[in-house]
Parts: sequence; structure tokens; C-alpha cells
Amino acid sequence: MDRIPVAVLGATGVVGQWFVRLLSRHPWFEIMALAASERSAGVPYGEAVHWIFPEEIPEAVRGLPVVLPRPGIPGRIVFSALPAEVAGPVEEEFARAGYIVSSNARSHRHDPDVPLLVAEVNPDHLALVERQRRNRGWKGFIVTGGNCSTVQLVLALEPLRRRFGVKAVVVATMQALSGAGFTGVPGNAILDNVLPHIPGEEEKLAREPRKIWGRLTPEGIEEAEARISAHCHRVATRDGHLEAVSVKLSRRAELGEVVEAMEGFRGLPQELGLPSAPERAIVVRPEPDRPQPRLDREAGGGMSVVVGRIRPCPVLDWRLEVLGHNTVRGAAGGAILNAELVVAKGLL
Ligand SMILES: NC(=O)c1ccc[n+]([C@@H]2O[C@H](COP(=O)([O-])OP(=O)(O)OC[C@H]3O[C@@H](n4cnc5c(N)ncnc54)[C@H](OP(=O)(O)O)[C@@H]3O)[C@@H](O)[C@H]2O)c1
Repeated sequence: MDRIPVAVLGATGVVGQWFVRLLSRHPWFEIMALAASERSAGVPYGEAVHWIFPEEIPEAVRGLPVVLPRPGIPGRIVFSALPAEVAGPVEEEFARAGYIVSSNARSHRHDPDVPLLVAEVNPDHLALVERQRRNRGWKGFIVTGGNCSTVQLVLALEPLRRRFGVKAVVVATMQALSGAGFTGVPGNAILDNVLPHIPGEEEKLAREPRKIWGRLTPEGIEEAEARISAHCHRVATRDGHLEAVSVKLSRRAELGEVVEAMEGFRGLPQELGLPSAPERAIVVRPEPDRPQPRLDREAGGGMSVVVGRIRPCPVLDWRLEVLGHNTVRGAAGGAILNAELVVAKGLL
């Protein structure tokens, strides 16, 4: 089949570069335009970008002149890796003009008619896009992915939520530097250090799962009641967020049942065989010292979450460690998977 033309907004940033890397070898999508700020516009991509990967910039995009993110650029699907401060109105302009926007920015995550989508967890929420088009009179629509810490948390807990219900979660994150973007955290602040505050992160992690776990009703999403308490830390790893999680379930579970639910988990992307779907969305490691960011972040090409140290919790019910590749599963890879689901569902 002819590949579907796509564009990347924010293509010179950390997430944007992951989009370029993953899309340049994608079987369904073909990059036709790369957009960034005034700083980069008009310059060939290869000169505008501070390329972060060891391999060369893909030949097909190296000479592509960077454009400003305005409708009119070629592409039917637009992947947005813009900062939230600019993403809101720009993504709306694209959706109004008929593009399908798959976004990583937080700007529209809580709009009642915009799906906050984690493809294995709440694919049914895609039904919101018809309401979005109707409400706003748009030809296109916006689909958003969750914050990087949210995505791996809800994915790891999904088998438990389905089988036993989730009542409460306490989570402490150890988040990698790439999560802060290209200019990110100054070296002097993070070397030999842990930063115990990431602005806005705890609020996102406490709020987003409630929408993702929400029930789709004719009136929209009825948010889940689960209570979530988050502690977020920036640490000096490059990629891969580690989360220490305690969870209270609605029904009693035995250790064997918890492990079995995790190991046997499959979502719709796996059933449909979508190109970016990892064979196993959740990989369970039995060793007492796993998962570790450096050893486990590439699991499933960065699209699997890795769970380990599943053990009883004396305060809630269960404790576990969860690792996810923040810029792949938690950002670009997750948004590409969401777009594949859009295509597979015939919404293009
Ligand atoms: N990093 C992660 O792990 C992660 C995970 C989930 C979600 N996100 C979200 O994804 C988005 C991108 O994050 P990032 O980490 O990739 O940030 P980043 O490295 O700072 O990149 C920002 C990108 O946006 C462009 N840009 C900045 N201001 C612009 C403007 N006024 N008009 C057009 N383009 C503009 C930049 O272009 P120039 O190079 O030309 O300045 C660059 O391409 C953010 O909304 C972030 O919250 C990030």
C-alpha cells in the first residue's frame, strides 16, 4: 500500500527526533514535513537539529527544509512534540483544517471530547473523536497520549485493574533527563544529585489515570474514582523512568494471580498486530534487582513496560517496580501506536 504522508511538529526536540527516527523506518507512514520554531525554519533539518542518536540522520529527511507549524504543510497525520505553551492553538488549527493530530503535549489531554489514549488500556475512548468533530465542526481531530510517567503506570496496572480493580496507588518516580527536553536540566543541578520536584508532574500523574481509566458514556468520560498519590524525582539517568508503586486493589488477589495477570496481558494493539505494538506490552522480570533503566529500557524496542519485584505491601496490597522508556513508549512511540490504532479503526 502507499504509505500515509505525515508531518512532525517540534521535530528538532528530543521527542521530535524520536518521531523522526521511528517514522523513518515505519511501514505505514512516510515523513513529508518537519516543523519547528522560527529558530530552525528555512534551514535543512540536518543543520537545524542537534541530533541525539549515534546513527546518521536518515537520508530522506536530512535535506528537508524545516517549516513553521502551520496548516498547509503536506501530511494527513500530524505528530505533535511541541511545548505545551504553543501546542494548544497550533494543534487546533491543524484539526480544524482536516489533519489528524496525535499529540504528546498536555494542552488538550483533559478536553472532555479529546481521547487521552493509551492504546492497550482505553482504545474504546477513540469513540470521542466523532463527538469532537461534531462539537467543534472540525474535519480532523486531536488524540493525545499521556504524560510519560502516566503511560507506563497505567499500562503496568491494566491487568490488575481489569481483573481485580484498582482503588488506590502510591507511586514514587525516578525520571530520566530526556524527559526534560533537549535543553532540559543543567548539568550542575543534576550531577551527583536527585531533584525532588518536577513542576506539574505530580498533578499530572495523579489526574491523568482517572480519565484514562474512566468509563465511556453517551455524555462523555466518567472519571474513575481511584486515588493516586505521586512523588516525582528527576535523576541522572538518560532514558527510562523507574517507578516504585504500591497499589490497593478492589478485590483480594494471590501473588500467583497477580503475576499471571501481568504475564498473560494482551491489548487491542497486540490483537490487531499493529506495527509498533510490542509482542508483550508488559515484561515481568523475576530477578530481585530488575528492572533497571540501562538494562531494561529497550525491551520491546522501548514499547514494553518492564515490571519486577512484585511483592506484598504491608500498607496497601502489592508493591512493584515499573520501568518504561519515557521518550519511546511514554512519548513518540506511544503517539505513533495511537495513530496506528486510528488507521486500523478506519478513522483516517
Ligand atoms: N521528553 C519526554 O520524555 C516527553 C514525554 C511526554 C511528553 N512530552 C511532551 O512533548 C513535547 C516536546 O517535548 P521535548 O522534550 O521534545 O521538548 P524539546 O526538546 O524542548 O523540543 C521542543 C520542540 O518544539 C519546538 N518549538 C519550541 N517553541 C516553538 C514555537 N514557538 N513554535 C514552533 N516550534 C517550537 C522546538 O524547535 P526549535 O528547535 O526550533 O527551537 C523543538 O523542536 C512537550 O509538550 C513535552 O511536554 C515530552
